[in-house]
Amino acid sequence: MTDVPPADDADARAPEDEAPLPDSPDAPGAPSGPGVPDGPGAPGALGAPGASGVPDRPGASGPSGVPDGPGAPGAPEGGGERAGAAGGRPFAHRPVLRDAVVELFEPVPPGIVVDATVGGGGHAEALLDAHPHLGVVGLDQDPDALAAAGVRLARFGDRVTLVRTRFDRFATVLDDLGHEGASGALFDLGVSSPQLDRPERGFSFRGEGPLDMRMDPSRPMSAADLVNGADERELAALLRGLGDERHAGRIARAIVAARPLTTTTQLAEVVRDAVPAPARRRGGHPARRTFQALRIAVNEELAILPATIDDAIDELVAGGRCLVLAYHSGEDRIVKDRFRHAATGGWTGPSHLPVPPGVTPTVRLLRPGAIKPSAAEIAENPRAEAARLRAVEKLPLQEVA
Ligand SMILES: C[S@@+](CC[C@H](N)C(=O)[O-])C[C@H]1O[C@@H](n2cnc3c(N)ncnc32)[C@H](O)[C@@H]1O
Repeated sequence: MTDVPPADDADARAPEDEAPLPDSPDAPGAPSGPGVPDGPGAPGALGAPGASGVPDRPGASGPSGVPDGPGAPGAPEGGGERAGAAGGRPFAHRPVLRDAVVELFEPVPPGIVVDATVGGGGHAEALLDAHPHLGVVGLDQDPDALAAAGVRLARFGDRVTLVRTRFDRFATVLDDLGHEGASGALFDLGVSSPQLDRPERGFSFRGEGPLDMRMDPSRPMSAADLVNGADERELAALLRGLGDERHAGRIARAIVAARPLTTTTQLAEVVRDAVPAPARRRGGHPARRTFQALRIAVNEELAILPATIDDAIDELVAGGRCLVLAYHSGEDRIVKDRFRHAATGGWTGPSHLPVPPGVTPTVRLLRPGAIKPSAAEIAENPRAEAARLRAVEKLPLQEVA
């Protein structure tokens, strides 16, 4: 396996629709020594017409590849950025740090990798092409993404199972499909390019669309509900906490005064007018952080992440690996925290002291820091720039003593 250089954690320039948050110091190395909360669930069967995959209910279908697919053989383009066309439009998303992801899964034991954010199937396709000893269980809550993955991955037949669900049902899905553990878990967090680029999804301030932002369109709360329903104090706290928005108070006040707001461009204008003039000229679009904060809140992105990472680690077989790609420091802090917790068995004492008996690490960190995209990758795909990839490997049982 080619070695992937570690990267430090300096904050990166954000991709166009994503605001970087101030980063925390990197996790210290794990001290040496010994060492499923179910979410609200997902809608039952795949909702999108022509979507491929396995409905997320027990017994609906075994791990039998890509049943009910749209029939098209798909047009995978050699690891490029285009997946199958859902709804007639190509699903254009470049898998970030694809080669590093593929390399990090090379040594895992034969079995399945759960791609918990399969999106258009870019990472999954690269993994399946490179590693004949692996199958993929792909999860996504977005029916459009899952439909695209179904087309792209159809050629792998029964090596692939797709399930429409939120990833907090990670353990339940494995159980339902009859898998006793996983050889890998992959989380490529956040939004896909098509989610950002399709104005009707309402994720981006760039195009006119409804204030929606739901990755799973069947969930009850949209961005409009939040923007028009929360009080000023709640809105300000949300913008500060999830968007690190310095002008949260002013923006919240302006939003409340301008309500009801129904479109992305209306909201973007209100935010732009609310921030002081000098701030409008710095650091990208003034509405970036507001949109990020709303998207994270609408999709409960941070709320379900810590327990899901713990579940994924629990499900790994010995030698199995969990990889997480985070795109802002709120996510990355959670990843570091859960990985550190697993690598230390929860021991928070000074690393120079012996680890007390009974403290049992369940994983080892594969890199001291995060892996970052190269300058060449960023030049090709600016949205990759904020990415931080972290990885752990499950320890053999005998070391968990
Ligand atoms: C960055 S994209 C993944 C792209 C994918 N790795 C590829 O190469 O095509 C993130 C995907 O994760 C999905 N997603 C985000 N949070 C999720 C969650 N909690 N449960 C299930 N899917 C989620 C989004 O709908 C989106 O399709």
